[in-house]
Amino acid sequence: MQILSDKVIFLTGGSMGIGFECAKAYANEGAKVVIVASSWGQVEEAVERLGSEHLGIVCDVSNASDVEGAIHQTIEKYGRINAIHNNAGIATPSKPLHQTSDEEWQLLMDVNLKSLLFTTRFGFEELKKSGGCILNTSSLVGEIGQENHAAYTATKGAMNALTKSMALDYAPYKIRVNAVLPAGVWTPMLRKWQEEQPDPASVEKYLDEIHPLGYCPEGDVIADACVFLLSDKARFITGTILPVSGGAELGYRSLR
Ligand SMILES: NC(=O)c1ccc[n+]([C@@H]2O[C@H](COP(=O)([O-])OP(=O)(O)OC[C@H]3O[C@@H](n4cnc5c(N)ncnc54)[C@H](O)[C@@H]3O)[C@@H](O)[C@H]2O)c1
Repeated sequence: MQILSDKVIFLTGGSMGIGFECAKAYANEGAKVVIVASSWGQVEEAVERLGSEHLGIVCDVSNASDVEGAIHQTIEKYGRINAIHNNAGIATPSKPLHQTSDEEWQLLMDVNLKSLLFTTRFGFEELKKSGGCILNTSSLVGEIGQENHAAYTATKGAMNALTKSMALDYAPYKIRVNAVLPAGVWTPMLRKWQEEQPDPASVEKYLDEIHPLGYCPEGDVIADACVFLLSDKARFITGTILPVSGGAELGYRSLR
């Protein structure tokens, strides 16, 4: 049995990385996936790989009218939205706060956080009708912090707080709101972050070691958790901030 059968999932940042792994997993479970991302070439390629019953929309999630248009396009094609997965994000710059420029701060806030305001504002009525759900791709660093990445961690900490408040506000409408927290996942974003580090060559070993389960995964591990949270199998779960992190948050470890 496919556990997302006939659900229409509005997935931001679905063209690559964790988002594309989610798109494939959702499609395999019977969902119609709306891939919402910023670059047309990548959106087109992702939909081609997924199949023509899915939809690709070019949209800057930090732009209100873009998001409003994308929600309308989704309703025009499918007549409903069962889930919004807020996954689009950026991670640059890797810097402490005092070195972060106004522009860098604002862009991170707009893409990673304000985008939730827009998808919720324009998608809420549809989720109310479907008794649907919202899923946020946050990050473990929003809970535990991260050296040299202050503004990014602020967006993810805020996303975690928002997930809980939204879960409370929308529970009366039977809309569930949850978040997944990856630690490291190999994607184009992580490769970019690797290049910003003082010693990029040492990063792969470091990333294997921060995960007690022993390796830095690909996006499929996140996608499997997301499938569960968007399915009716998670029907009594809301406001959960779920680490999918190989145990990276589990405290002091011995030297290896
Ligand atoms: N890769 C990791 O190690 C990791 C760890 C923790 C959390 N995350 C989070 O997971 C999510 C996905 O990250 P990823 O590693 O797959 O990144 P990625 O860079 O590989 O993919 C990002 C996706 O977001 C889209 N996007 C970026 N800016 C956008 C905008 N303004 N409007 C619309 N779409 C936009 C891109 O088009 C792309 O589809 C992000 O929210 C990220 O913060 C990633």
